[in-house]
Amino acid sequence: MTDPISGFSRLSKEEKIEWLNRTYLQQSEEASRILRQYWNPDAKLQRLHEEFTENTLSNFYLPFGIAPNFLINGQRYAIPMVTEESSVVAAASKAAKFWGTRGGFQAEVINTRKVGQVHFSYKGDPAKLQSFFQRTKPRLIASVADITRNMEKRGGGVLDIELRDKNHELEHYYQLHGTFDTRDSMGANFINSCLERFAKTFKEEALKFADFNKEERDLEIIMSILSNYVPQCLVRVEVSCPVEDMASSEMSGEEFSRKFLRAIEIAKVEPYRAVTHNKGAMNGIDAVVIATGNDFRAVEAGIHAYAAKDGTYTSLTHAEVEKGVFRFWMEIPLALGTVGGLTRLHPLSRVALDILQKPSAEQLMKIVAVTGLAQNFAAVSSLITTGIQKGHMKMHLLNILNQLEASIAEKEQLVDFFRDKTLTYSAVGAELEKIRKA
Ligand code: MEV
Repeated sequence: MTDPISGFSRLSKEEKIEWLNRTYLQQSEEASRILRQYWNPDAKLQRLHEEFTENTLSNFYLPFGIAPNFLINGQRYAIPMVTEESSVVAAASKAAKFWGTRGGFQAEVINTRKVGQVHFSYKGDPAKLQSFFQRTKPRLIASVADITRNMEKRGGGVLDIELRDKNHELEHYYQLHGTFDTRDSMGANFINSCLERFAKTFKEEALKFADFNKEERDLEIIMSILSNYVPQCLVRVEVSCPVEDMASSEMSGEEFSRKFLRAIEIAKVEPYRAVTHNKGAMNGIDAVVIATGNDFRAVEAGIHAYAAKDGTYTSLTHAEVEKGVFRFWMEIPLALGTVGGLTRLHPLSRVALDILQKPSAEQLMKIVAVTGLAQNFAAVSSLITTGIQKGHMKMHLLNILNQLEASIAEKEQLVDFFRDKTLTYSAVGAELEKIRKA
């Protein structure tokens, strides 16, 4: 076992790599070379990236792609997507084109409320706590005036604070449940700063509250933190068209719609399928969330919690056929920002937001949700018609060829060769071998 290292964060980038080399990489020059190879020659740009986080050694590339032809509420978008998965951008583009000729996507923001909580323990009379809270609430709001001033100028701020009694779920557990409008910022820092100030004020006021006995005064703040569960920060997206317009070379519109609805019903009742079904939507959602410098972990956590809100994990998307019209829709919570955080700090996120015509947070919610719906539509459509492997493995061919270190000429020859053949890793390997021997 290696000895622990102290002061690692204070070492220079070179010293950190050197230490890793010595400790874990058997002095491999290869690892150092690759880490250095990804440094940006523009020192200022490199430094900007390094300072996003700590102990940075290098940069980690992901492809930044574009899915054009999205028609959302009558406006045409080219959507930037950052993803490593083959087929995802192609599938989004295909779905965008398909729905672009069928009226496009309709999107609507239902609400934009975010939540943060101060969790505390209190071992006293609940009625006294309630009256203390009512008396203290205006002071709590006043105590964050310096934090909320700018947000209020932009139309946001603290919407409300409630005292919630959670004693029935966990003994002595209470919370200050705050709701916030953070306008075009994701708002994590804003909400957390407000919450920490609420907690401080609440504790200080409790110490002074004459009706409390000693034990009640000793209410204990456990933690103050925003919630990534945002069921009141909701967007709804939808596509629809006459059933006959769903026809393809594989099947009639009626057969396609019937199978599609059945696939959604299966995802509604079967969690094993629901998780994969929703993962298809997340392929689109995450890609835009990452491209625009938003927090994809927060988005993932919030959306999956929403998919389980009724007690069972289920499909995020819904479909119906009524009076000859096929309708497909999704409603998801999304806490996003178009200002603050990395959104305009990462040069590529800035470009992504510019490509999207500098959207507000609400517009971005619509764009992200539409990409998720498009992706889910594309995945389920493939699954119920040709199966996904046909398209997937074709796109994956380049990954396989890169792994096998094929030259450009070999790649061209093999892409052509596998155009109408079943693709497996070993088949590609064998064919490459043949070319090389020849
Ligand atoms: C693959 O990344 C996503 C799919 O598995 C989604 C689905 O099964 O619906 C194709």
